[in-house]
Amino acid sequence: MIFYNVGMELKEKILERLLCGEVSGQQLAMKFGVSRAAVNKCVKKLRDEGYDIDAAAGRGYRLNNTDVLSAAKVRKYLNTDWQVQVLGETTSTNDDAKRAAALGKDNLAVIADRQTKGRGRLNRAFSSPSGKGLYMSAIIRPNLAFADCGKITAYVAVAAARAVETLCGKSVQIKWVNDLYMDGKKICGILTEGSMGMEGGSLEYAVVGIGINVAKNSFAPELAEIATDVETESGVKIDRCALAAKVLDGLKNAEREIKSGAFVKEYKDRSCVIGKEVTVNGDYTAAVRDIDDDCNLIIERDGKTARFFAGEVSLKIKK
Ligand code: BTN
Repeated sequence: MIFYNVGMELKEKILERLLCGEVSGQQLAMKFGVSRAAVNKCVKKLRDEGYDIDAAAGRGYRLNNTDVLSAAKVRKYLNTDWQVQVLGETTSTNDDAKRAAALGKDNLAVIADRQTKGRGRLNRAFSSPSGKGLYMSAIIRPNLAFADCGKITAYVAVAAARAVETLCGKSVQIKWVNDLYMDGKKICGILTEGSMGMEGGSLEYAVVGIGINVAKNSFAPELAEIATDVETESGVKIDRCALAAKVLDGLKNAEREIKSGAFVKEYKDRSCVIGKEVTVNGDYTAAVRDIDDDCNLIIERDGKTARFFAGEVSLKIKK
């Protein structure tokens, strides 16, 4: 059964119904208590947005293309309670979500088909072309002390890795701290931003931005050596709406999982840096010895060990 949100636009309700199969204009009009003309107008708007909707005499409307990003479709796959906003284009979904969080929003995921200023850690650009990836920022408000906030990105990485792996069947590794890898190349990056309450010293909100290269893409030469996409690596075309919903479902126990650290074992098991030689900040070579219970990185250099927090270093794995 589909539950239609109060306030949901007629167009969205019609789309949600079309995702379940063929339906006539008359049935839609009766179901939603509107005129046939109103239904026709919404179908036209949906077609203008790129939905390929057939209208066969005597049968009704049928939705053919399913790889369209829409809030209604993400909701169809969701098993947990999220508000979902889908945009055609934006600068960065993290900025949209941060604005919404500052206004008090919670449990909101902003998703865009394309970002013009997608960004990653250390202010690096994150390439976000239309139709190729899932670019999503979710607002979460786990009640966490400052000391636990460093684990948020690692927790999200595990949730995203599980989601991708479940949908494409190919194993996903995590490169400390925020990148997902397949066969030695990056398929996803995570950017966590947030706000701390100065008085209580605890988290007000976190915006977790997740960028996953989903569909076959031809990367610019400087990226092609280090980045890839899920379709190229696994041969599976993942539906971006299904992926968004899987990731969001996986974020629902943030507070409990981060406080207990229950996800850390999986984070380490998926690590593709433990035991490897790496270049740190493009500067020197070190050996990665471990990742501790707070998801800090432990490296060894010239016989001495050092521990790094997420924001401090960037790593390059040595071949
Ligand atoms: C990284 O590679 O360092 C992190 C990349 C994070 C990209 C995602 S896409 C959705 C959200 N919006 C952004 O501008 N960045 C994140």
